[in-house]
Amino acid sequence: MEKVIDEKKQGSTLVMEPKKENSRKLFIESYGCQMNFSDSEIVASILAKEGFNTTNQLEDADLVLVNTCSIREKAEQTVRKRLEKYNAVKRKNPKMKVGVLGCMAERLKEKFLEEEKIVDLVVGPDAYKDLPNLIDEVEEGRNAVNVILSKEETYGDVSPVRLQTNGVSAFVSITRGCDNMCTFCVVPFTRGRERSRDPQSILEEVNDLAEKGFKEITLLGQNVDSYLWYGGGLKKDFSKASEIQKATAVNFAGLLDLVAKAQPKMRIRFSTSNPQDMTLDVIEAMAKHKNICKYIHLPVQSGSDRILKKMNRLHTREEYFELIDNIRKIIPDCAISQDMITGFPTETEEDHQDTLSLMEYVKYDFGFMFAYSERPGTMAGRKFEDDIPEKVKKRRLQEVIDLQQKHSHYRTQQHLGKVEEVLIEKESKKSDLHWSGRNTQNTMVVFPKENYKVGDFVNVKILDCTTATLIGEPVGYSDNN
Ligand code: SAH
Ligand code: F3S
Repeated sequence: MEKVIDEKKQGSTLVMEPKKENSRKLFIESYGCQMNFSDSEIVASILAKEGFNTTNQLEDADLVLVNTCSIREKAEQTVRKRLEKYNAVKRKNPKMKVGVLGCMAERLKEKFLEEEKIVDLVVGPDAYKDLPNLIDEVEEGRNAVNVILSKEETYGDVSPVRLQTNGVSAFVSITRGCDNMCTFCVVPFTRGRERSRDPQSILEEVNDLAEKGFKEITLLGQNVDSYLWYGGGLKKDFSKASEIQKATAVNFAGLLDLVAKAQPKMRIRFSTSNPQDMTLDVIEAMAKHKNICKYIHLPVQSGSDRILKKMNRLHTREEYFELIDNIRKIIPDCAISQDMITGFPTETEEDHQDTLSLMEYVKYDFGFMFAYSERPGTMAGRKFEDDIPEKVKKRRLQEVIDLQQKHSHYRTQQHLGKVEEVLIEKESKKSDLHWSGRNTQNTMVVFPKENYKVGDFVNVKILDCTTATLIGEPVGYSDNN
C-alpha cells in the first residue's frame, strides 16, 4: 500500500462537518496502514448515529479515539507518546474519555488499562459496532474492553463517512484479516482470520462513490489476491462449499472485472498483493480494463531463498522473478513497488546481497523499507533470536534505500517526453500555481494549474523529473472526463 504511513509522522486527524448542535464531540486520529484510516471512517459513521460530530480540536473533545498500529515497535511508541499528550489535555478537561482502537488494542487487551491509566476504552478491529454500548459503559464510570475477533465481520453494511477527503479518491475495503502467517508479522494476531466482503456491497459502495463525484478508488485488503466470495465464510472452508457456491464464486480477478465494468470511468487501484497469491488472471484483468491502474505493490521482504523460507513467504526468488517477467510481458509499462525488511534473524551479508541483486533485477518504481523489529507473540518473536545488531540492520537498510533511490530515479526518467493522463488531486505542496496528481503508475505529477480543477483527468507532457516526482505541462483534457 502507498500504504504504511511512516510512524514518525503525526497521525492524521479526521474531521467532518457538524450535523447537530449540542451533540458530543469526537476527536479521532489514525496511525499505520490505509486500512486503519479506512476503519476510522467506519467508526465515525457508527458514532455519527450516536450524535457524535468530529472535531479537529483535541481540547474540545468529549471522546478521543486513537486508531493504532503494532507493525513495528516504533509505531507503538508513537502512540504511547500521543497518550501523554492526551493526558496533559485531560488534566484541563477531566470529563474527556479516551479510547484505543486497532492493532495495539487487540495486542495488549486489558493490559492497556493497567499500563496507561488515561485509557478508558479498548476496542479491537472487529468490535467497532459495539462502540455505542462500550461508550455507555464508560460514561457510567466503568472501563470497557471488547477485543473479540470475528470470523464474519466485514462492516459491509456500514457506509463509511468520508473524512478529510479531497472528494477525488477513496478507499474501499474488500477483505479483513490475514491467514498468511509470515513469521515476522503481527497482523494475523491483531486482525484475525481472513474474510472477504460480499461483492454486491462492494459494488454498491463504488457506485455510491461514483455518484458523489469520486474519480478513483483503492480496493483494500492485507492480501487482496486471496479475495474469495462464495456466500460468506472463511476462505479455508471453501472446500466444504456446495457445487453451486463453487460455480458462482468470485475471486479477485472476477471482482476487478465486476468493478471495472460497473464504473468504466472510475480509476481502480488495489493494495496489497502477495506474490504467492497473485495469479495471472489478475494481471490479465488489469491489462483488459483501461481504468485499472498499471501499478502493483508487490512486497517481497527479502531476496534470499533461505530468509524467504524462514519468513514463511511461500515462494522462491525464482518464482518471484517469473511473476515479475509475466507482469512485464502482459503489462509492459506497469509500475511495481516493494516492501523490504533488513536484518531478519540470521540474515548474513550474502542474504543481504541477494536482496540487493533482486532489486537490481526488478528496478522497482517505489519502495517501503524497514529494519526488522521483533514483535511479541509472532513465530519469529518466539522462535528466533533477534541476533542482527541494530547497527548492521540500519546499515543494510541504508544500502537498500540508496539503491531504491537510484532505481526510482531511473524509473521516473523513463516518463520524460511522454504525454500521460493525470488525475488532479490537490494543490502542489511547493507551489500554489501548480496542481499535483498521479499518473496510472502512481507517480506524482506536478504541472501548472491553468484552468483545470481538482478531479479533472488531464493529459500532461512530462518535461522533467526528480526521484519521486514528474514535472510537466498540461496539453488538454483526457477522454476520461
Ligand atoms: N499485507 C500487508 C502487510 C502489512 S505490514 C499490507 O497490506 O501491506 C506492511 C509491511 O511492514 C510488510 O510488508 C513488511 O515489510 C513490514 N513489516 C511487517 N512486520 C514487520 C516487522 N516485524 N519488522 C519490520 N517490518 C515489518
Ligand atoms: Fe502480514 Fe504476511 Fe499477512 S506480511 S499481513 S502476515 S501477508
